[in-house]
Amino acid sequence: MTEKVLGGGGGLAAALLLLLSHLRLSFGTCPCEDPALCNPIQGSRDFEVLVFDVGGKNWKFYNWSHITTVAIFGNYDPELMCYAHSKGARVVLKGDVSVKKIVDRAFRASWINQQVDLAKKQYMDGINIDIEQEVEKLSPEYYALTDLVKETTEAFHREIPGSQVTFDIAWSPNCIDKRCYNYTGIAESCDFVFVMSYDEQSQVWSQCIARANAPYNQTIAAYDDYINMGINPKKIVMGVPWYGYDYACLGLIKSHICSIAEVPFRGAPCSDAAGRQIPYKVIMIKVNTSLTRILWNEEEEAPYLEYKDPNGAFHQVWFDNPRSISMKAAYVKERGLRGIGMWNGDCLDYSDGSVPRKQTQAMWEALIPK
Ligand SMILES: *[C@@H]1O[C@H](CO)[C@@H](O)[C@H](O)[C@H]1NC(C)=O
Ligand SMILES: *[C@@H]1O[C@H](CO)[C@@H](O)[C@H](O)[C@H]1NC(C)=O
Ligand SMILES: *[C@@H]1O[C@H](CO)[C@@H](O)[C@H](O)[C@H]1NC(C)=O
Ligand SMILES: *[C@@H]1O[C@H](CO)[C@@H](O)[C@H](O)[C@H]1NC(C)=O
Repeated sequence: MTEKVLGGGGGLAAALLLLLSHLRLSFGTCPCEDPALCNPIQGSRDFEVLVFDVGGKNWKFYNWSHITTVAIFGNYDPELMCYAHSKGARVVLKGDVSVKKIVDRAFRASWINQQVDLAKKQYMDGINIDIEQEVEKLSPEYYALTDLVKETTEAFHREIPGSQVTFDIAWSPNCIDKRCYNYTGIAESCDFVFVMSYDEQSQVWSQCIARANAPYNQTIAAYDDYINMGINPKKIVMGVPWYGYDYACLGLIKSHICSIAEVPFRGAPCSDAAGRQIPYKVIMIKVNTSLTRILWNEEEEAPYLEYKDPNGAFHQVWFDNPRSISMKAAYVKERGLRGIGMWNGDCLDYSDGSVPRKQTQAMWEALIPK
């Protein structure tokens, strides 16, 4: 076709034009076998299950029967987009931007345009905004952040019908990690907030010891706080961790108290930064060679285990498992929240063995309230 239009002349120019037209074509071409799979997902399901994907091909083994949204925090994978759409699940961008810069209205608008263009180009269904920066209450950044969420939602809804804009918030509204955001304003301005109910020991002012990543009572109390502030439960999705913390103990006593190094974080003297985050699949490999196998802490209602490393140091590992996650999922149902999700979908062992297969299936099943 290009040759006909250009007729005989042209040589190099014609070749260039041909190349350009092919490039344009490849940007505009749906990568899915069925072009209908490039259409954005419409409508919503009763129970939201949001999965964070951090890259690789594990997604092929996710349990897709309940997934409603996959947030792409790794590289964009067109194959994943096509597959998710074939299962009726949305695929959304990760959104992060400097809160200092978005105070400038023009910068904010151009950032939003870029996100919308990228989503369109990749046939995606929205954006999950994950800004975990410090913001002071009533500061210019405080107002700009609420405006950013509002304007992003308006732009996406207008430009990509059916699209979804969500925002990740701290496990508690009480200025956790110096993130003092306008939570009610943000929740009002987007489709829902995702509460990151983990890293709950990021700021510890009491005894500096290893504790649960997401203790049950502390987790639940914070949802009550958000709801009591006036956020509609149907605008809240609970986030649970599929990872835990491995702490090297400075001392470990019989009653399972593991004292840890004092590592300060955002004003607090002690923090989970003293530990190392490890995925559920790695924790499960440690169980059989641990000193304790899986123990249960009644106060925090969380599992943990202890092991000795090759240098002879004791470690305590705190995590979540089907038992602790299903308790939280039960609360999601009881309190009428919008759904559940996890950081992150790639923490499980998707290999073929019968033990990992069972463990992985149980983790997916624990998400769905009975
Ligand atoms: C939070 O945002 C909402 C919506 O923009 C606004 O009505 C409210 O005044 C804000 N709250 C504060 C404390 O600024
Ligand atoms: C751990 O031990 C259990 C029971 O003793 C066994 O069924 C399982 O296969 C072992 N797991 C691994 C990873 O070796
Ligand atoms: C958790 O909270 C409930 C309700 O407030 C209370 O009855 C219970 O004792 C608490 N559990 C622990 C272990 O603190
Ligand atoms: C996915 O979840 C459904 C419902 O919970 C369950 O019936 C099914 O066996 C699971 N599939 C896999 C592959 O684990």
